[in-house]
Amino acid sequence: MKIDVIGLGYVGLVASACLAEKGHNVTGYDTNTEKLKSISKSDIPFYEPNLNELVRLTIQKQTLKLKKIENYGDLVADAIIIAVGTPLSKMGTLDISQLQVAIKWIISNYQNLPFIIIKSTVPPGTGEKLISQYQELTDKYISNPEFLREGQAIEDWKNPDRIISGSKSQKGYECIKEIYKNYTAPFVHSDITSSEMIKFASNAFLANKISFINEIANLCDKLGAYIDDVSKGIGLDPRIGPNYLIPGVGYGGSCFPKDVQSLNDLSMTHLQSFDLLQSIITTNQKQQLMPYFYLSEKFENLKGLKVCVLGLSFKAGTDDIRESSSINLINQLSNSEVVINTYDPVSIKNSKKILPDSVNFFDDPYDAINGVQATIIMTEWNEFQNLAWKKVYKSMENPKIIFDGKNFLNQKLIQDLGFEYFAVGRKIKSKK
Ligand code: UGA
Repeated sequence: MKIDVIGLGYVGLVASACLAEKGHNVTGYDTNTEKLKSISKSDIPFYEPNLNELVRLTIQKQTLKLKKIENYGDLVADAIIIAVGTPLSKMGTLDISQLQVAIKWIISNYQNLPFIIIKSTVPPGTGEKLISQYQELTDKYISNPEFLREGQAIEDWKNPDRIISGSKSQKGYECIKEIYKNYTAPFVHSDITSSEMIKFASNAFLANKISFINEIANLCDKLGAYIDDVSKGIGLDPRIGPNYLIPGVGYGGSCFPKDVQSLNDLSMTHLQSFDLLQSIITTNQKQQLMPYFYLSEKFENLKGLKVCVLGLSFKAGTDDIRESSSINLINQLSNSEVVINTYDPVSIKNSKKILPDSVNFFDDPYDAINGVQATIIMTEWNEFQNLAWKKVYKSMENPKIIFDGKNFLNQKLIQDLGFEYFAVGRKIKSKK
């Protein structure tokens, strides 16, 4: 099929490269000339494992082409995927202005209106509103949310657990079936608003699992229970499942915080309140600053305390620092005049743009740790698990605290070396 993709961010570029690899004839459009130039040299402006290689390969095979959005007037395609950003506005609602601009551009630049597939995350009800505004979209508009995790986006695209879509016309469903004909995942096709709701409800439910296990972990610390065993025990119930039950310093990223907030806002408009959503948000805000609360309890005054924060991105496998727990924590520590060293394998460039000047950035984790009293792990990069902990112990100053914000270090090893170890829900000494 001839598929055009508008917006070459995380989702749009992954979609373009993966569809082109499957043999579709894909053209990726973006407004940003610099971005287009660097993508065409397969120098992707963000970190996503294996994407560079796939883009290079598909450009070489000529199944992927790149073009700037400008006025053409005579474009032809079978389907257009819109994957532009829908950031959270200051009002707490999702800003769909880029999506509206894209739709207007499509209407005035394509000879026969192709199917328009919306991958951008939009609040439930958006598609219907757009159709009432642009009636020519009625049989062409298809909601097709994405469930890609940053850092695993290619893998998730290639092995989806489901393909969700919503349209008014049967032809819309046939279009989706054709695009994804080589995929074995189950299809769920619905009306447009239900499809939009599936995306929001999925993210909110996963965020709910995380906030829930975090509160259980906090309670474990008070009661002398061990969260790893509790998570495992809960997760073995197939009605609950083992995923998204790892406690720590809360969730971040460009999706969960934004989508839960936006769903909460939407429910306030229609239901008055959806208390559970507000609780998910409140718990997460508290959880992101857990190491700060811990240090504040331990030290009378945080001013001058020397701390190393390992990890800046909102999770491993990405250089995305949007709503990152680490960034929020560093800002909080900086307000208390803590001396902060930091290291991340890929996110320093992005973080330098937004963190206070007083933060010290290092290219090597051992240099960042040298001489600090507390090391806080905020991102689960493998290399942090494999640090030479004996060396780390020698290089730190008393009281040599390790705050494992991702509950992923070998607790016994760390404690046996003599560190003061703290995590979330792991207060009792591990025997393993
Ligand atoms: C999330 C969803 O997982 C995707 O399905 C969805 O497509 C995407 O949002 C989106 O809406 O575009 P992503 O934001 O890349 O993907 O990140 P996740 O891997 O889901 O992790 C989100 C946050 O939860 C991270 O901060 C992670 O550290 C945290 N997390 C995850 C936990 O604290 N505990 C867990 O057990 C799992």
